Amino acid sequence: MMPYAVIRQKRDGGAVPRPLLDSFLQAFHHGDLPDYQMAAFLMAVWFRGLDATELDVLVDAIIDSGSRVDFGAEPGRRIDKHSTGGVGDKVSIVLAPLAAALGVQVPMMTGRGLGHSGGTVDKLSAIPGFRLDLPLDTFRDQVLDLGVAMISQTPEITPLDGRLYALRDVTATVDSIPLIASSIMSKKLASGIDGLVLDVKTGNGAFMTAEADALELARTMIGIGAQRDCDVVALVTAMDRPLGRAVGNALEVVEAIDLLRGEGPADVREVTVALTAEMLVLAAAAPDIEAGRAAAEAALDDGRALDRFRRLVEVQGGDPRVVDSPADTLPRAPVQRTVGAAAAGRVVAMDTRAIGEAAVALGAGRRHTDDLIDPRVGFELQVEPGTRLERGDPVAVIHAADHEVAARAEAALRDAITVGDDTPRPRPLISHRVTRTGVEEVGPGR
Ligand code: URA
Repeated sequence: MMPYAVIRQKRDGGAVPRPLLDSFLQAFHHGDLPDYQMAAFLMAVWFRGLDATELDVLVDAIIDSGSRVDFGAEPGRRIDKHSTGGVGDKVSIVLAPLAAALGVQVPMMTGRGLGHSGGTVDKLSAIPGFRLDLPLDTFRDQVLDLGVAMISQTPEITPLDGRLYALRDVTATVDSIPLIASSIMSKKLASGIDGLVLDVKTGNGAFMTAEADALELARTMIGIGAQRDCDVVALVTAMDRPLGRAVGNALEVVEAIDLLRGEGPADVREVTVALTAEMLVLAAAAPDIEAGRAAAEAALDDGRALDRFRRLVEVQGGDPRVVDSPADTLPRAPVQRTVGAAAAGRVVAMDTRAIGEAAVALGAGRRHTDDLIDPRVGFELQVEPGTRLERGDPVAVIHAADHEVAARAEAALRDAITVGDDTPRPRPLISHRVTRTGVEEVGPGR
């Protein structure tokens, strides 16, 4: 195999035959192909894409580069959920114990924050003592015993993805649909799942800002699953405003616990219930989506989901007092600063990416991979598109480490939230449902 010829073929828009592409990927995995040639190949993929066979070879090479969680003939169906990333997205913390309380086995490997978007690993790490680095056999046993385990991605699973991602990150090749789809799906497939529900975000705070790209990403991931006997369903959801009110790690855990008590913001509850209903149907734990929704609503309202979360926190070494008194258990920032509206009007638009970036600047996310997260900081937003404000009405409460960063965050929030007289045009919270058989538009009732 001549690496040069593989790169040239992809660069010129041709399809690289299976054995050649496989040898190219294996050579990289075994250290026999330098980073610069892989970087050139990734850039060629960014421009030219991958056909179905090439995608298949890439997914297999990534999965086979590490261990797989093997549930063997254990009874039950293992179903996971993955979000493509957004601001204020604390759904996994609510959904994983909720689905487990309703009979689904949820082996969830969660990610760190990426750019302006938060990550479940960072949110759960705000809970004192909560361990996310469980060995794979403990992870597997806990899924079978408790119905749910939430861990961080481990280097034993898909190590090739880690190396490819590190190169993509520094060569402007992250935002490629086949590279994203293969990266996400290979990790999920290696974690031993039978089915997957995707929350594909779109809007100004999503990685896929355009709806057409979100749909294409969903179809690509569904196709990868279909080739490997893994049922995948995707909901396309709005990320043209943050999800819920809290943005920042400890603040989002508090909001997630409110939701597990049957309270909390309606939008996060709606997305959580819709995704959980899909999981229940994939797990054959509900006969249809409506029954799945009703079961999810009931388990949020009667404490079963909260109880499963309490057990999850305990088993993974976290301080279980977080469930009953989160405010006393979670770290709290020393500075709280309320941002008041500068003028009367209506919230017309929210620049969600800018809000996420402002949270990162406070310390809620990382600018460099080895930056430390400050779990205490972030925003409690008081508005959404359409909210009417009088001058001075609260727009957000900033939680910050000191007054100087709080002042900078205030300026960033003011720029990110447009108040005026125009009519807001927020995206529907859940706009599409994508399955193997096609795309349905979801009505406003959902
Ligand atoms: N998340 C991943 O795991 N991989 C990508 O490529 C993008 C987002």
